Amino acid sequence: MDHHTLGKTKWTRRDEDQQLAQTSTAVEPQIQNGFVQQLADIDPHELVWGCAADLQPLFAAVDQRVAANLKRVQAAFKRARIGPHHFLGSTGYGHGDLGREALDQVMADIMGAEAALVRIQFMSGTHAIAAGLFAALRPGDEMLAVAGKPYDTMEEVIGMRGTPGHGSLMEWGITYRELPLAADGGLDWEALASAIKPGVTKVAHIQRSCGYALRPTLTVAEIGRAVQIIKAQDPNALVLVDNCYGEFTEEQEPTAVGADLVMGSLIKNAGGTLAPGGGYVAGRADLVAAVGARLAAPGIGTDAGGVPGTTMRILFQGLFLASQTTGEAIKGGRLVAEVMSRLGFKVVPGPTPGLPNPPSMITAVEMGSREGMVAFCKGIQLACPVGSYIRPEPGVTAGYGDEVIFADGTFIDGSTAELSADGPIRPPYVVYCQGGTHWTHWALAVESALVSLAEAGVVPPAAAAAGDSSSSSSSSSAELQEEQAVLVC
Ligand SMILES: Cc1ncc(COP(=O)(O)O)c(C=O)c1O
Repeated sequence: MDHHTLGKTKWTRRDEDQQLAQTSTAVEPQIQNGFVQQLADIDPHELVWGCAADLQPLFAAVDQRVAANLKRVQAAFKRARIGPHHFLGSTGYGHGDLGREALDQVMADIMGAEAALVRIQFMSGTHAIAAGLFAALRPGDEMLAVAGKPYDTMEEVIGMRGTPGHGSLMEWGITYRELPLAADGGLDWEALASAIKPGVTKVAHIQRSCGYALRPTLTVAEIGRAVQIIKAQDPNALVLVDNCYGEFTEEQEPTAVGADLVMGSLIKNAGGTLAPGGGYVAGRADLVAAVGARLAAPGIGTDAGGVPGTTMRILFQGLFLASQTTGEAIKGGRLVAEVMSRLGFKVVPGPTPGLPNPPSMITAVEMGSREGMVAFCKGIQLACPVGSYIRPEPGVTAGYGDEVIFADGTFIDGSTAELSADGPIRPPYVVYCQGGTHWTHWALAVESALVSLAEAGVVPPAAAAAGDSSSSSSSSSAELQEEQAVLVC
C-alpha cells in the first residue's frame, strides 16, 4: 500500500443536502499492520483524485479499446445501411418491421455470428439466458456448467431451488452437472478435458463474467480454448455463453471464437445505458430461430414483436454508444479498485499497471461485513442522480436465494450499465461495482462511499481481523442497525 497517496485531511458531509465538504481538522492516518485504522482519518477527495491521476495511462489504453470496438460497431451499421427509416417502429404483431430486422443484422455482425435476436420483449438477462437454454435442451439431455455455479438467478431456471411446478429445466427432465472452478478461480482445464459425455451433454454453459463470485472474468481466448476442448469430445455439444457484462470489454465476442450462442441483457453493456429494457441472443442461425420460437411461439419465432419507433431508435443508439459506456465503466471500476485496495480492501480484479486482461466490467470489493456492504451502498446511492434520498437496504428480490442489497439510483430501473453497486448478503460480504456513463461519476461516488464507511466505523476486513479496530466497528454496527429502520432519509 502506498501511504503517500492517502490524504491527511478529515472529510465529512456538510449539511442535509449531503454535500461533501472539507473540515479544518487535520489528522494523520493511523497505519497498523499495513492497514488504515480509521477511514475517518483519510481525505477521500485527495485519495480518489490522486488515484485518478495515476490511472491516466490506463484510461488512455481503455480509450484505444473503445475506439477499436467503435470501429467494429460503426462498420456493422454501415454494412446494414442504417438510416432514419429504421427508426419508424411498429405496433401489435410488428410484422415486416425493417428496423427490427436491421437491428438483428447489426448485432449479428458485431458479434461475429450468423444471426441475432435483439428484443425489447426479453425482460432481463436471466430471461434471455433461460430462453437460450430451453431452446437448446430437450428431455434426457444434460446441461454442464463449465465455469462453476452459474449466476444466482439461474438456480431457479435450472431447478436447484424454486417453486415446484414452475417448469424448471430439471422438471422438464434435463439433468444438470457442474464443473467447479480451479483453485485460481479460472476454468479447470484438466477436468474439462474429459467432462463431456458424448451424446448426453447437449449444452456446455459458460458464464463469462464473475456474477456474484470472487473470481476473474474469463477472456474470450479462454472461452475459445474451452470451445475447442468441448467440441473435441463431442462436436454436437453446444456451447452457450452467458455474455452478461462481457460485451465490448474485449475486441471480439465469444461467438467469434466458436461459441454456438451468446445471451445477454440490454440494460447491461449492450444497451449503452439508453435501452429501456430488453435482451439479445446471437449465434448459430438455427439456435437463434429456436430461441425466437421459445420467446414467442413455434411458428411465430423471430418474425414478430412490435417496437415503438422511439424505442427502436434508442436501441440502435444505445448499441452505438455501448463501446463508450462500457469503456467508462471499466475506467470507473479501475478507480474503485485502486482506491479500495490502497485502503487495504481485497478487490477483484486487483489494480494492474496497465489494462487488466480481460478488463472486467465488474469490480468486486470485499467489505467483510453486512455493515460494510450497507455503508458502501448507502454512499454510492447518495451520489446517484435518481433516488439519492433512498437508503438501500438488504432485502428479498425475485430470483435470488439470499438477501441482496442494490445501490442503483439509475434512470432505467435495474440498469447496471449505469453506475451501480450491489451484492448478496453472504460471506465474504462482497459489493460488486459496475456500470457508469462517465468515470468521473465514479470518483464522486467513491468519495461518498468512503465518507459513509468512515461514518459507520467500517475498516478493511484484514484490519478488523488484526483486532485493532473491534471497538469502533461494533459501536458503528449498533448505530447502523438503528439507522436501518429508516428507509428514506
Ligand atoms: C453473469 C450474470 N449473468 C446473468 C445475470 C442476470 O441478469 P439479469 O439481472 O438481467 O436477469 C447477471 C446479473 O447481474 C450476471 O451478472
